[in-house]
Amino acid sequence: MDLEKLLTDRLAPAFATVAGVPVNPVVRRSPRADFQSDAALALARRLGRPPRDIAAEVLGYADLADVCSVAEVSGPGFLNLTVADAALAALVSALATDPRLGVPVTAEPETVVIDYSAPNVAKEMHVGHLRSTVIGDAAARLLEWLGHRVLRANHLGDWGTPFGMLIEHLADLGEAEAAHELSMGDLDSFYKAARAKFDADGAFAERSRLRVVALQGGDPVTLRLWRLLVEQSERYFMTVYDRLDVTLTERDFHGESSYNDLLAPVVDDLGRLGLLRESDGAACVFPPGSVGRDGEPLPLIVRKSDGGYGYPATDLAAIRQRTGALGATRLLYVVGLPQRRHFEMVYAVAAQAGWLSPPARAEHVGFGSILGADGRMLRSRAGGSVKLVGLLDEAISRATALARERNPELGEAEAAEVGRAVGIGAIKYADLSNDRHRDYVLDWERMLSLDGNTAPYLQYAYSRIRSIFRRAGMAARPDAAVSLAEPAERALAFELVGFGRVVGEVAENLEFHHLAGYLYRLAAAFSAFYERCPVLRADEPVRDSRLVLCDLTAQVLRQGLHLLGIRTPERM
Ligand code: ARG
Repeated sequence: MDLEKLLTDRLAPAFATVAGVPVNPVVRRSPRADFQSDAALALARRLGRPPRDIAAEVLGYADLADVCSVAEVSGPGFLNLTVADAALAALVSALATDPRLGVPVTAEPETVVIDYSAPNVAKEMHVGHLRSTVIGDAAARLLEWLGHRVLRANHLGDWGTPFGMLIEHLADLGEAEAAHELSMGDLDSFYKAARAKFDADGAFAERSRLRVVALQGGDPVTLRLWRLLVEQSERYFMTVYDRLDVTLTERDFHGESSYNDLLAPVVDDLGRLGLLRESDGAACVFPPGSVGRDGEPLPLIVRKSDGGYGYPATDLAAIRQRTGALGATRLLYVVGLPQRRHFEMVYAVAAQAGWLSPPARAEHVGFGSILGADGRMLRSRAGGSVKLVGLLDEAISRATALARERNPELGEAEAAEVGRAVGIGAIKYADLSNDRHRDYVLDWERMLSLDGNTAPYLQYAYSRIRSIFRRAGMAARPDAAVSLAEPAERALAFELVGFGRVVGEVAENLEFHHLAGYLYRLAAAFSAFYERCPVLRADEPVRDSRLVLCDLTAQVLRQGLHLLGIRTPERM
């Protein structure tokens, strides 16, 4: 149990007795004592009594003797709480024998669908897909670790009118040549070549339009060519996932096309429910609350005037399947903020249709853009969008060079492994340590630096602790008595026992920068401890106690980084 919760549980009954109604004691970490509650101040007006009197009376009722060494009223009516060393040490000891490091398995396991990555067939993955992949994968790891049933849904863009020109281009090139080009991962040139022909050559454009009809009509030859495009792209995306070290597999591709048979029934049912309005020949739903800048209601187009179904209908069908056949109660969509309105409208329509009712709910896990050093959208030197693989290769090669330079004792193979862990870790951490709602600047120097809130800093802290144990030639004894006499030991202990709380919060809000920030504070607290408190040179029983602190720090760093999808090399 974390200390905020422990203290809250002890104070709440006392506050309730004094106030006559339930009160949240709002216990927070504080620089003045260890923890502080300002609930008496908030109660004063309601009770018509001075806050200091309320606070003093609460202290009289509260059962804090075994947890706090000091509990006092301060200032205008704060409760200042100092945790007893023995109580803190007991929590640390409990952690040392808990394989879950103070993070319980959820009492209410859910089926959670996480819609993430979702690149488009025959198109290069761009940095927006990088963010989706990194954030979505962290969510999958975290919720799975908490005991939820996680279904990864890679909503591949594998359907729609562009496939007419893509298939025609493929047919022109010949299957073997096309497969070769695509397997090289040069998806963008393939796409651009098709596009260029489409724009310049009227006959090609006409063939492309007929292809779309053939594709939708299920023409076997056309379907075979289409599948070739999809398979080559999937194979290529898998190589990116592999390099990026994410948990997505081939089985997680659930492309837009897989919902094709569900689209007509979705729209029919919307009609039966009386939700459809016609607008310029298109079938639309006007969800309540969606209005444009001009105050006019906004339509969600579920069937276009040409009879085709598009992106919104597909997302409605997917929701219906996810809450229905898949039995999911939490749907996460890790997609850039520009699509926020789309998802708001889709969720609203799904709710109206009865496909998204409590306890089932959907959340748009939106995110901002990655910016270049100039503060503008990240662009390649040629001005195009930056290729994701290029970015990953650069990260790995920079990190490998740094690893060789920093530790010449690493062999070639180990330097490559460290370079990969640090390079990929740096990319992921730069993303996850920033508030996802905001844009951030991709800064190589900063994200590969050993100082500051970076992956290499945390990985280095981990490897440094592991080296203590290599030197000691032994593991920590989890049952060793823990004593916390030094302020730096106490400060480290407070961070360690806070892991469960942070993880619980992040499982709700999916704001991974809070987990990153926590790991950074933990590593900093460890550094301060290690500077002031000798470990291997200390006498027993202090040595054993400090080894427990070291070991727990390493375990929490490793698990925390693992949840972010970041590896922790034993040596760096
Ligand atoms: N393929 C889309 C894109 O690249 C993202 C799909 C997101 N998921 C969804 N269910 N709409 O923008």
